[in-house]
Amino acid sequence: MNSRIYLDYNSTSPLAKSVIDFLAKGDFSYANPSSIHKSGKDARRLINQVTNQIFQTFHLDPKVYDLYFHSGATEFINTFFQFKKDDAYLFSAADHKAALKQGEKCKYAYPISIDENGVLDIDQIKERIKAHLKSYPHSRVLINIQWVNSETGIIQDLSFLKEIKQENVFIHIDAVQSPGKIDDWQVLNEYADAYSYSAHKFGALKGLGFSFCKVGYPLEPLLIGGDQQAGNRAGTENPLGVMTIGLALEELKHYPRLEIRKLKDEVINLIKSNENLLLVSDPQNSNANTICFVDKHNRADGNLIKFDLQGLDISSGSACSAGSVEPSAALLAMGHEQYAQNGLRISLGPDNLEKKDLILEKLKKVIASL
Ligand SMILES: Cc1ncc(COP(=O)(O)O)c(C=O)c1O
Repeated sequence: MNSRIYLDYNSTSPLAKSVIDFLAKGDFSYANPSSIHKSGKDARRLINQVTNQIFQTFHLDPKVYDLYFHSGATEFINTFFQFKKDDAYLFSAADHKAALKQGEKCKYAYPISIDENGVLDIDQIKERIKAHLKSYPHSRVLINIQWVNSETGIIQDLSFLKEIKQENVFIHIDAVQSPGKIDDWQVLNEYADAYSYSAHKFGALKGLGFSFCKVGYPLEPLLIGGDQQAGNRAGTENPLGVMTIGLALEELKHYPRLEIRKLKDEVINLIKSNENLLLVSDPQNSNANTICFVDKHNRADGNLIKFDLQGLDISSGSACSAGSVEPSAALLAMGHEQYAQNGLRISLGPDNLEKKDLILEKLKKVIASL
């Protein structure tokens, strides 16, 4: 379709091939799944089928977790994090903005430190929980944990959840960057109260997502209106969008993780060959597709243009708003203040494998010029 080479899969992904084929056929359910006529029931059946598929994919029990479809992780993060007087909020400064901004809604919001390798300080989480619940025994502690960091690809080991889970401690896992990209993306830790996903990050349509939330979690609906999704998320459901989630998830089972990791290693070698550059994502503890690095002497804005001129779509480590590069939350949190505006992120995807040689040739040229 175009000559650009897309290396920005953490930002969003192209549609999965099965989704493109399905949409091209144009033969899909359009009825309102809440309607009681036959067409409505057919649409409901499709949503139920995909719901079952999602539970099976993640090996979860529908008696333990509810599943909600929504517009994406941002929506569910805003739904899950609603604070009562004296509740506390724990998060990391390297979290996605959707999670960071929840701190503005809470009187007791505590950023948890991460170390220079991007790993959360678990002792600090434990201490914060203990201190807060001692001062406010009838309050709750709500915690956001980003499983895989979107800027660096660094993976948090979630095995500590059992050490912090208590009756009045509620844990949301931002799992947006995990599907396909880490080995155990389908293995969820049941000490977490909720997991959120955005469909556009793994090949389904944009403006869609889903979350698991423990049965019994006192979810306050963000959108009120109709009684869809047991009144927890009002608004007509989207059977077409949900179908694309089912197709893209199925395709993810064949995600070429090893091949993508090999390509990542080759890109890392190029980065390491230039002493002006510093690799941020620890190859041992980051996902298969993300490479975050900084140019020690230059801001990301100018460097992005160099990649752009070679036809390579890459991203700065941080969010770009109004065309300018904001300091990277992850680099700041990891103690790289001096490089916070110099971060660059290459995030690979399955379609890159066909053009591997061309990608490496172009990257070699640009990286050597930095
Ligand atoms: C880690 C992470 N969390 C949450 C989000 C928010 O997802 P969405 O924009 O689909 O709501 C993103 C998207 O960039 C993300 O990468």
